[in-house]
Amino acid sequence: MLKDYIEVIIDGIKIKTKKGFSILNTSRLIGGDIVPPAMCYYSSLPNSGGKCRTCLVEIVKWSNKNIDNSPKLVPSCNTEVLDGMIIKNTTSSKVLKARKWIVEMLLINHPLDCPICDQAGECELQNLSFKHGTEKTNYSFERRTFKEIYIGDKIKLHMNRCILCYRCVLVGDLLTNKRLHGVINRGNKAEISTYIKNNIDNDYSGNMIDVCPVGALTDKTFRFKSRVWYTKPIKARRNCKKCCGKVMLWYDGDNIIRVTARKNLYNEVINFICNDCRFHCKENKMWIIEDVDNISNKSVISTNLYKDDTSFIIDKNII
Ligand code: SF4
Ligand code: FES
Repeated sequence: MLKDYIEVIIDGIKIKTKKGFSILNTSRLIGGDIVPPAMCYYSSLPNSGGKCRTCLVEIVKWSNKNIDNSPKLVPSCNTEVLDGMIIKNTTSSKVLKARKWIVEMLLINHPLDCPICDQAGECELQNLSFKHGTEKTNYSFERRTFKEIYIGDKIKLHMNRCILCYRCVLVGDLLTNKRLHGVINRGNKAEISTYIKNNIDNDYSGNMIDVCPVGALTDKTFRFKSRVWYTKPIKARRNCKKCCGKVMLWYDGDNIIRVTARKNLYNEVINFICNDCRFHCKENKMWIIEDVDNISNKSVISTNLYKDDTSFIIDKNII
């Protein structure tokens, strides 16, 4: 049993972890700022990671058997830990410098349209650039642009904002028998697309919106209804025949204006939900209210301070 566990050091903190774990998942066992940011890795999506390079870390020593360091930074999401490994993340100036370049690269084509983007306030790229970005860009060419299209009757694709993390493609692989969209073309021409435009109509397609780290995929039923920091997220459930029925309801006053899956600390969906729950259940009587959500006080969504307002939850508990 003990043989399954190994010891590594991340940013000076010693931790016992399981063989086969990645550096990223081991750092998540410690938590806090030493966890590298991840724009493409998603723990519930097989084969995710290795695309964005935001999770790069420095290896000071590979293992007890191999005391060499690594000349190159490695992606922590798909590098396995080895016994005796010494890793630097926030304590490495090389990593912090590289992360700035990565953010700059991710923003090469991404428009700075946060004031009008529905994802603002809950955008992983916005948070990443706030923490690790620079004010300047070295890129002087024109950004590539695409027309906004609907890929399915409730999902809008704003390709200009896509960072090609592949999460939406992988969630299609995971939840449907026949994925209807993917990445077409290569290099600077690569884009998310459906083969025949506008044809995604499976019961779980809405999950693409939840896994998208930026505002490239948005919910047509929520678009421009409110800014996320004016809403109140409340955990609720219903007996659903297709999915677990455990969701987050986003209230504007007394009205449910959006339904999403619940997410964990790392912004990853806990249980995927069906399109019925997401798009067609926006009446209070359809839900059993459970609890308020634990919104981090660093998040702009917490500005609503709705935890003091318990009457709000009791009033909603109508069935
Ligand atoms: S649309 Fe969103 S989830 Fe899909 S590849 Fe682009 S950024 Fe990633
Ligand atoms: S999260 Fe590791 S490469 Fe994207």
